[in-house]
Amino acid sequence: MKEQALPKPKLKGAVSVEESIYKRRSVRNYASKTVSLEDVSQILWACQGITDPRGRFRAAPSPGALYPLEVYIVKDDGVFHYMPTGHKLEAISDKNLKAELAAAAWGQVFIQDAGLDIIICAVYDRVTAKYGKNGIRWTDMEAGHAAQNVFLQAEALGLSGVPVGAFDENAVSRLLNLPRESKPIYILPIGYKR
Ligand SMILES: Cc1cc2nc3c(=O)[nH]c(=O)nc-3n(C[C@H](O)[C@H](O)[C@H](O)COP(=O)(O)O)c2cc1C
Repeated sequence: MKEQALPKPKLKGAVSVEESIYKRRSVRNYASKTVSLEDVSQILWACQGITDPRGRFRAAPSPGALYPLEVYIVKDDGVFHYMPTGHKLEAISDKNLKAELAAAAWGQVFIQDAGLDIIICAVYDRVTAKYGKNGIRWTDMEAGHAAQNVFLQAEALGLSGVPVGAFDENAVSRLLNLPRESKPIYILPIGYKR
C-alpha cells in the first residue's frame, strides 16, 4: 500500500484549551473548503498520535496501553488509514466515498459536505483478550477520549465537527473494506462552519 508522510504536528497553538472547550459545538453545516494536510495531520495526532518520546503512549488514554483503536479518514482524494508509528497515512482507496459514507449513516448529508470524515474503529480483541468483557466498554470509552481530542483540536484550528453514532456498521465496514476484526464505532465529520 502507498504511504504518505504527514506534516510534523505542532505542540503550541494560539487558542487555549479553555477557549476550545467553551466554543466547541456540534456543527452540521460545512462550507465547501478543503481542510489542509497540516490540519488533517494535527487532528489525527490529537486523536491517536504518539506523544511519548519512547514511542509507547498516545494522545488519548487507553486501557492497559493496549491501543485497540484504528483510525481511517475519508476525503475527496480517497480513503486512508492513520498509522501512529511514523505519523503517516496508508492509502486504502483513491475514490471519494463521502456520499456513500453519508448514505451508510442513514443519509446524514453533512457527512458528505464535511472536508473530511474520521472513522474510529475498534479492535475489541486487543482489550478483551486481557480484561474480558469489560474490554468492550473500556474500548468504547477510549474512543470517546480520542474523539473529544479531535473536536477540541479542530476548534483550536478554526474547524468544527459533530460526533456521529448513528450508522449501519456493516455498510461502513463494507465501504471501507475494513479488516474483519475492525468494527467502526464513531464517525467524526470535520470541516469549516458555513
Ligand atoms: C455518542 C454520540 C453519538 C451522536 N450521534 C449523532 C448522530 O448520529 N448524528 C448527529 O447529528 N449528532 C449526533 N451526536 C451529537 C449530539 O446530537 C450533540 O452532541 C448534542 O446535541 C449536544 O450538542 P453539542 O455537541 O453542540 O454540545 C452524537 C453525540 C454523541 C455523544
